[in-house]
Amino acid sequence: TQERTLIAVKPDGVQKRLVGEIIKRFEQRGFKLVGMKLLQASEELLAKHYHDLKTKSFYSSLIDYMSSGPVVAMVWEGSNVVKTSRAMVGETNPLDARPGTIRGDFSVDICRNVIHASDSVDGAQREIGLWFQSNELVDWESCLHSNTYQ
Ligand code: CMP
Repeated sequence: TQERTLIAVKPDGVQKRLVGEIIKRFEQRGFKLVGMKLLQASEELLAKHYHDLKTKSFYSSLIDYMSSGPVVAMVWEGSNVVKTSRAMVGETNPLDARPGTIRGDFSVDICRNVIHASDSVDGAQREIGLWFQSNELVDWESCLHSNTYQ
């Protein structure tokens, strides 16, 4: 079954010019890009996105960091994309992330860990609904088929 997940290049990832590298890895793996935008995330959006972390000591610095610059939010689709993208991203703490993973290759700081990936299919659905309107997601393979063949 086709899943979708929310991938976001965090402000440090955009500043470090990692957007292209990250897109390349997801494309090369064979996943399909169905939504993408560059935005400065509002505190309101981030509060919803991180509502599970509200009681953590690092919560306010996390919101400050995530709103400190633009984020590139993307929706990727494919078989098992939620679990596979977590493996491609690596552990939350970059010091635990293996070389070859995005965090393992490009970061050393848990407070600047480059990228977000949804942690479950349900979580992905919730997060995609926060970051994207349904008309911002493009099911481009079926568009091509219906235009060409039907
Ligand atoms: P992520 O797993 O994408 O989403 C939650 C984020 O909170 C996490 O990435 C880190 O950016 C941040 N985070 C998690 N644990 C800590 C921590 N112990 N200290 C600071 N930031 C953290």
